[in-house]
Amino acid sequence: MFEQLKPVPTDPIFGLMTEYKADTNPKKVDLSVGVYKNESGDTPVMRAVKKAEQQRLDTETTKSYLGLAGDVQFNDLMTSLVFGDHDAVKAGRIKTAQTPGGTGSLRVAAEFIKRSNPNATIWVTNPTWANHFSIFGAAGLTTNEFPYFDFDTMGLKFEEMVASLNTIPEGDVVLLHACCHNPSGMDLTIEQWQIVADIAKKQKFTFLIDSAYQGFGEGLDEDAAGVRLLASQLDELLVSASCSKNFGLYRDRVGTFSVMTATSAQADIAYSVALNVIRAIYSMPPAHGAAVVAHILSTPELKALWEQELTEKRTRINGLRSFIVEKFKEHNVPGNFDFIAKQNGMFSFLGISKEAIQILKDEYSIYIVGSSRINVAGVNNNNADYLAKALADVLSR
Ligand code: LMR
Repeated sequence: MFEQLKPVPTDPIFGLMTEYKADTNPKKVDLSVGVYKNESGDTPVMRAVKKAEQQRLDTETTKSYLGLAGDVQFNDLMTSLVFGDHDAVKAGRIKTAQTPGGTGSLRVAAEFIKRSNPNATIWVTNPTWANHFSIFGAAGLTTNEFPYFDFDTMGLKFEEMVASLNTIPEGDVVLLHACCHNPSGMDLTIEQWQIVADIAKKQKFTFLIDSAYQGFGEGLDEDAAGVRLLASQLDELLVSASCSKNFGLYRDRVGTFSVMTATSAQADIAYSVALNVIRAIYSMPPAHGAAVVAHILSTPELKALWEQELTEKRTRINGLRSFIVEKFKEHNVPGNFDFIAKQNGMFSFLGISKEAIQILKDEYSIYIVGSSRINVAGVNNNNADYLAKALADVLSR
């Protein structure tokens, strides 16, 4: 039967990563996959993580199964990290399960939504992370887009977004990014979060928040402000959080799925459904990374070190944003790229054509996702001039 299979295109992000690795050009530049890189272009293990791993190695006593929800201490600590000291947490209305990364969490969310309403449409920002479509499609759910990013102004299409959200019915799900919108870098202001919360109250749709970059935008609490606002005003909410970026645990697959309901009794029921969903997909998440995060978050000196490292990353990214704009001006790259300095997190769109992206790869070994999304953290002092000169050349042809 396997001869019936048709090949599928390589993943638009991980396919590029593979091509980049195979490229032998010493000047190659990787601005593709969303992985933080330091000034040397490396992604080292965070110091707090190394210390916690060592401690775990010395004290781990068993490899026996965890429960379906994973590491319970990790779940509590992550609930606090995402929701803060929140009334809904204290009231027992929020339940959290450990998941294999943010993608695993979103897949659990998709199956959970399907159990709640098999006919739910998942509304995503236009544009959004390409994998959102695959994840919800794999669960048999329909996805639809609402306006979000404006390529003419390189800002938000907020009025159009509001008009569209005002038509979304009860029972559907609206997926927003908690911060550092992937791929545009454009986030909602707190006033805009309030406006969309009010629409949800009126329309009675449910939010699913994808929180993959907490700490990479303005700060750990600042980046969770939208989620916390929704949690304080709505009855129901879903949050998928990832520790890939903020703990640098990409390959260890660490994340959480949180469900908030109107009452603690409903939360218990919802949690039983979530655990049943998990059992049918992967039984339980891998232990190592979550144990490391739990140890960091529960050990004051490790937590302080982690926060310091996270601040260093955030500061470097924010500095790079202005640096890139300056470099583009210095090398006369055609166009106005000032918007890059005003956006958040690791990504911005360059807004250049697919042809230009192809030439940058073929002639300069510069790797950019086909949507023109760049990973800002891939730029450094050694490659910035090369990148700016290449862009100036390709864009003035
Ligand atoms: C990205 O968008 O590049 C990252 O979130 C990695 C991924 O899984 O696509």
